[in-house]
Amino acid sequence: MSFKNYILTAVFAALTSSVFAQYVPVANADSAWLFTYSTLKNAGRNGLHFAWSMDKVNWQEIGPEWAPVKSDYGAWGAQKRMLDPVVWFDSESGLWKASWHLNEQEPNKVAITESRNLSLWKPQDYVGASEVKSAMRNVAPAETIVLPSSGEVKGQVHRVAWPLVNDLLNALQLQRQKDRDNAERAADDVKGRFRDLKPQQISVTVLPEHSKTITDKLIGIFFEDINYAADGGLYAELIQNRDFEYTPEHMHDASKWQPTSWWVAEGLDLKVSTDDPLHVNNPHYAVLSIDNPLLDPATKRLKSKQAAMGISTLEYHPTPQLANRGWEGIAVKEGARYDFSVYGRVPEGKSVKVKVQLQCGQNDKVIAESTVTIAGGKSWKKVQAVLKATASANDARLVLLPQSNGTMHLDMVSLFPQDTYKGRKNGMRRDLAEALEALHPKFVRFPGGCASHGDGLDNMYRWKNTIGPLESRKPNWNIWHYHQTVGIGYYEYFQFCEDLGAEPLPVLAAGVPCQNSSAGGNGQQGGIPMDQMPEYVQEVLDLIEWANGDPKTSEWARMRAEAGHPKPFGLKMIGIGNEDLISDVFTERYKMICEAVAKQHPEVEIVGTVGPFCEGSDYERGWELAHEMNLPYVDEHYYNSPGWFINNQTFYDRYARHITDSEGNVKPATRVYLGEYASHIGNRSNCVETALSEALYLCSVERNADIVAMTSYAPLLAKKGHTQWNPDMIYFTNTTVEPTSGYQVQKMFGQNAGTKYIASTVRLEHPSANVQKRVGCSVVVDEAKDQLIIKLVNYLPVENTYSVALPDGYTTVVAAQTLTGELADTHAVPADSEATTADGKLQLTMPAYSFTVVRIGR
Ligand code: AHR
Repeated sequence: MSFKNYILTAVFAALTSSVFAQYVPVANADSAWLFTYSTLKNAGRNGLHFAWSMDKVNWQEIGPEWAPVKSDYGAWGAQKRMLDPVVWFDSESGLWKASWHLNEQEPNKVAITESRNLSLWKPQDYVGASEVKSAMRNVAPAETIVLPSSGEVKGQVHRVAWPLVNDLLNALQLQRQKDRDNAERAADDVKGRFRDLKPQQISVTVLPEHSKTITDKLIGIFFEDINYAADGGLYAELIQNRDFEYTPEHMHDASKWQPTSWWVAEGLDLKVSTDDPLHVNNPHYAVLSIDNPLLDPATKRLKSKQAAMGISTLEYHPTPQLANRGWEGIAVKEGARYDFSVYGRVPEGKSVKVKVQLQCGQNDKVIAESTVTIAGGKSWKKVQAVLKATASANDARLVLLPQSNGTMHLDMVSLFPQDTYKGRKNGMRRDLAEALEALHPKFVRFPGGCASHGDGLDNMYRWKNTIGPLESRKPNWNIWHYHQTVGIGYYEYFQFCEDLGAEPLPVLAAGVPCQNSSAGGNGQQGGIPMDQMPEYVQEVLDLIEWANGDPKTSEWARMRAEAGHPKPFGLKMIGIGNEDLISDVFTERYKMICEAVAKQHPEVEIVGTVGPFCEGSDYERGWELAHEMNLPYVDEHYYNSPGWFINNQTFYDRYARHITDSEGNVKPATRVYLGEYASHIGNRSNCVETALSEALYLCSVERNADIVAMTSYAPLLAKKGHTQWNPDMIYFTNTTVEPTSGYQVQKMFGQNAGTKYIASTVRLEHPSANVQKRVGCSVVVDEAKDQLIIKLVNYLPVENTYSVALPDGYTTVVAAQTLTGELADTHAVPADSEATTADGKLQLTMPAYSFTVVRIGR
């Protein structure tokens, strides 16, 4: 039912009918007392609860303490509280309304939401308490009730039609069933569920007469700067805090985020100044004051004379130097070349020579050296040198050794391997980028996630701050609590997409910050003020101009050309919003942006957003908006358990392919971009168990790849020791790339994509649905190579033998690969496997818990 109908039928539903109840026993009473309340358990974060009674004396708790609505206000941890909820039935709209206080700091702000059946609630808005108060009608007084498990609680008692209580009881039952399904784990297979299961003979019949065209970009990647994925990760820069812009604000451990953090000065005085910066967007720079008697020319001469005579009468002074160890040591390779550069000046003096070394080990072994000259005078000058490493080391540091006394200013101290992905300057780490390339991603979504809408308005990712010369870019703190140099900015993202052969899918905030932003101010729900929205909309339009425009006629396109890319990037899709709360504040801004893009750039397809989950109020309202606004795609997100993925393989089979609008026109439905998903277990590891549940689910997604246009696992990259989120697809250190079992599933799907789906039937002897749903199959055709691709998943604890009846003409196995391993194995790797054809049939055996892909040619 659409959201509009949901509103229109509210009175009827609330008083007489039921969405959940297929059956309300006729013997039941026609009305009951319903108590609505919350508790202060978990600091008030447990949501709105219900209890019912026939006599107002004996109360039956629903759940107990089941909550179909919880507060969504503010950041996880400190916020999301529901204090003193008030629930009332608004006879004018026919809807139940609920309002509550959010915290002690904002006494005049409340949440407001509404529902037709008390189970499914509208996305919440946060408004002034007086505004809500004036709209309240017939509010029941607060009463104190004694409940069997919660004890004495304050709330409100309402007289309601019994079907409404029945709806709540049914919704709870449904939730409990879902919880049981979601909790299914493979560990229970051998011991319990499939104790007596014997190896299965499985027959598959491929039905070429039932085929359909599917998307050509099902597998892509979602790159977010989370887990140090950019600086210290994919971005090949080796110097940490190169711009002296680290700031403790918003960070958990202030000591690591000072302007001089990660720099070690010895024998000189290091300060940071903002007096006359290199660029206004990059205000801090290092001021080195060197006053070492041993650097005086006369002392230097004496020192060398004494050294020749084997004596020393000179006092010891440490050699003045400034060092940076990058991210826990710089990894360098013997024979490799590194581009060093720095902006510097000697404001009050003559030029100064600075030795630039790579040192390693406890004895400060010098493994590369060069010398640069920092010019005298007030203006900043960039100097460069190439360092060639004479040995490999994982613990190297860059050491700058000024050769004269005086004061020198430095900024943007950079060290880059020349060996980057595709040899790009300011480019990507080659090994990591190649691991991404191996996925054959058809698109790249960037730069977030939460990183794109940010924690409050000031933290929103603004693409214009990330282009142009590196020293002019505007660094910002990252929502995941570290620093972003934006060295990978929009230009580098687009360039990287081109190098990967993938389409760019930039995601811009929908004029609101993250729904989990800190409360208050311009944080959660404080969207960009409406009078500034036209400027923001223009910023979105300018991006399209920058990416696709003609440098001869467009100022933005000219900047792209000057940066090195005169040809358009060919932007075809743009994401607006990221799993936002679909509140009124959001909707107003979202519509404004989407309408402007659709009007001015109909050639660019919009990817909208439908909240953070696969169900619930944002999902429902987001989808309704998408159809109302005719959006080409929406971005769905869900991180669920393996049990969810196993039990929801028909999730997309039920999606409408066409919709009828209010004027009776039949139109293609909005298509799905499953932009963030992953199978999560308790220890949050990415292992064979989770990977196979994703493979099983992806078979069902491929079957529905006429409506699901794109998918991307999330998150993509994680630097070991610096993760804010687990599991991730690829873990890495400074020197290693450690793909997970889930990575292999993505790679097997990515490298074996098709453009035509062929239906198939799967028959096994075992009658149980529990067994059958753990056998996955998807058949596609790689039309370019004229090969049939069969994907099979065995999510059972026994080996299975397959016989696949092939369509005419496909006779030869070109390749067969199987991924299997211990369920907890986080780094399983696929291996070539046995598959043969005879008499029009493919024969193969699959080990317990495995995923096989077979390519068959003519
Ligand atoms: O993928 C990690 C985070 O999960 C994303 O930033 C956000 O969109 C989602 O909540």
